[in-house]
Amino acid sequence: MSDYETILVERRDAVTLVTLNRPQALNALNAQILSELLDAMRAFDADSTQGCAVITGSAKAFAAGADIKEMQEMDFAAMYGGDHFSGWDAFTRTRKPIIAAVAGFALGGGCELAMMCDFILAADTAKFGQPEIKLGVTPGMGGSQRLTRAVGKAKAMEMCLTGRMIGAEEAERCGLVARIVPADDLVEEAVKTAQTIAAMAPLAVKANKEMVNAAFDTTLAQGVQFERRLFHGLFGTADQKEGMTAFVEKRPGNWTGR
Ligand code: CAA
Repeated sequence: MSDYETILVERRDAVTLVTLNRPQALNALNAQILSELLDAMRAFDADSTQGCAVITGSAKAFAAGADIKEMQEMDFAAMYGGDHFSGWDAFTRTRKPIIAAVAGFALGGGCELAMMCDFILAADTAKFGQPEIKLGVTPGMGGSQRLTRAVGKAKAMEMCLTGRMIGAEEAERCGLVARIVPADDLVEEAVKTAQTIAAMAPLAVKANKEMVNAAFDTTLAQGVQFERRLFHGLFGTADQKEGMTAFVEKRPGNWTGR
């Protein structure tokens, strides 16, 4: 679709499928992949024909981390002065949902990218880990925070301090992934799930994403208030009228996104 070198982007009806494509480096996340991914996500967010995205990698690796070779010689001034990795914050500002479809290794920045997505579907071959400690550093793309919120302190601490990888079943058990699917079906199942989401009323989709994410940044009382205000606001949309009328008339909703 576009002239990207490190990602492939295709549209499956209302779903944008992005495949990380640096097989020689197990999809290690370098500056180019970040820049191309951000560009693709901006285009996805701005395109009213697109309702949900899927990000996937290869059978061997979703992504084996930030690019170690790119960072190897960098010093404090370069990392801190350039606020290295802060570019990823823009990825999390995508307003439409993004599903991570993870097979194989999701390590370091790869695990962190998966966690920046709205939920993770894991192949039975998926392996998650934050092995940065073995490189003499820590997670730097939000892993210490998002992993802890997802799986709790005990497992996050163990994973960050030992670098131990967890498999798909353990990841599902501890709440890191939404669902496990057979590796061969991963992308199709993720696209199918994304199509289900893309067929919903677009404003309600954005509102649901925004309010679930608010749970991570607010107190319970503030979060409940935020939910209620957004819920009230949807009663100013044509799609609320359409959705409830369609239910009463026993037919599918016909959304306008208004
Ligand atoms: N950065 C750069 N290159 C990487 C890479 C990474 N994160 N992970 C793998 N590669 C490269 C390897 O260097 C190798 O390249 P060459 O053929 O040129 O040597 C190629 O990908 C294939 O990798 P391996 O030969 O190592 O494959 P393997 O099957 O033997 O092992 C693996 C697979 C266990 C995932 C191993 O590659 C590995 O441990 N990778 C690094 C994992 C890691 O430490 N990730 C954290 C990175 S730091 C980070 O992400 C910071 C942060 O918080 C954002």
